[in-house]
Amino acid sequence: MEDMKVPSVPPPLRPSFSGRLHDARTAVSVGRLLGAAIAICFVTGVVSHYLQHPPGWAVDALPSRPVWGYRVSQGLHVASGIAAIPLLFVKLWVVYPRLFVWPPVRSIRHALERVSVAVLVGAAGFELFSGLLNTVQWYPWPFSFVPVHFAVAWLLAGGLLLHLAVKWPKTRSYWGRRSEGTVKLAAEGDAADRRSLLRGLAAAVGAVTLTTVGQSFTPLKRFDLLAPRHPDHGPQSLPVNRTAAAAGVTSALRSMAGWRLEVVGPRPFQLGLDELRALPQHEVELPIACVEGWSKNAHWSGVRIRDLLERAGAPAGARLRAVSLEQHGAYRVMEMGSDYAHDPLTLLALRLNGQVLSADHGFPARIIAPNRPGVLQTKWVARLEVL
Ligand code: HEM
Repeated sequence: MEDMKVPSVPPPLRPSFSGRLHDARTAVSVGRLLGAAIAICFVTGVVSHYLQHPPGWAVDALPSRPVWGYRVSQGLHVASGIAAIPLLFVKLWVVYPRLFVWPPVRSIRHALERVSVAVLVGAAGFELFSGLLNTVQWYPWPFSFVPVHFAVAWLLAGGLLLHLAVKWPKTRSYWGRRSEGTVKLAAEGDAADRRSLLRGLAAAVGAVTLTTVGQSFTPLKRFDLLAPRHPDHGPQSLPVNRTAAAAGVTSALRSMAGWRLEVVGPRPFQLGLDELRALPQHEVELPIACVEGWSKNAHWSGVRIRDLLERAGAPAGARLRAVSLEQHGAYRVMEMGSDYAHDPLTLLALRLNGQVLSADHGFPARIIAPNRPGVLQTKWVARLEVL
């Protein structure tokens, strides 16, 4: 905080900060952890975005393995975002005296730097706040969450890189125990306060992580007290995000006796539920991994999508489009690349955990595929189209 001591006629009410915890060494110690959490959040967020909304040329390049890929990546995204909240609060508390640096603007370069810090703080606050509300599916804003959250993530990444570049000399000087600045501070005997702050911060990060991460890391599910979803709570011991009632398919379900799966391709055909059940059934262990962060492995059985594609005369490398009975909703129509469509684990599932699918899990038939966001595991399938 050396800059704050620059003598230059400050206003009479300017506060003075003498606490050691507002120094650059603490800013770097907390900044390192915050930077790591934001980097994990950014990379996994980009992975999630492109798995859900791949550009046309990349659709067939998306891999259907590892089976658990999306589960781990999205679990990390939400866990690192939640851990970043206490880290951001503490980081801002450590550096807030710099808001009172006098004079507030010293040069054009300094003014630009302050604007970039304002963008960084705004973007970090927005991303963590909007992401957290998204995990509880609460959208109290007039804009669409996905494109805005995605765009601001790039603003945050750019702001953070700029911030690191500007603060590089100080960051380097206070990076490790043997760094020049740290050694100087240690000689002044300042380490104890910082250690206590960092221990408290570790306890806070540990507590929010432990009480939420069980929503996706099921060995810790018994500690899942604060996450909006518990992996065991839901019909057939599996959570649901969108119920049949919310999707408006209840009346359609009531007339299920007349339901027939339509498969459109070079050799189109239709199958009733009994005919589907009479086809070779395959069993797979695959997770449902929700974009909001919860995930759980489940046991599915049903007909391989690639068998249905073959019967419809699909050429090698064909893509698939699945259309749901849902009348509305962003994910009523879903497309999958050839890697997914031809994977032997990708099923039109009819059963879940040994029982017929419940209405909320997509009765009479749903898609289940490896390494895929839950929103693309289309429920209440009405039609499959060879593309
Ligand atoms: C989202 C992440 C971050 C946010 C929101 C943030 C925020 C801030 C803010 C508002 C300041 C005061 C700016 C000023 O007026 O000069 C600051 C200072 C600083 N930050 Fe960060 N920061 C972040 C990440 C990092 C990282 C990753 C590092 C390095 C590991 C870092 C190192 C520093 C340093 C060395 C200072 C100067 C402290 C001083 O002069 O006493 N920050 N940060």
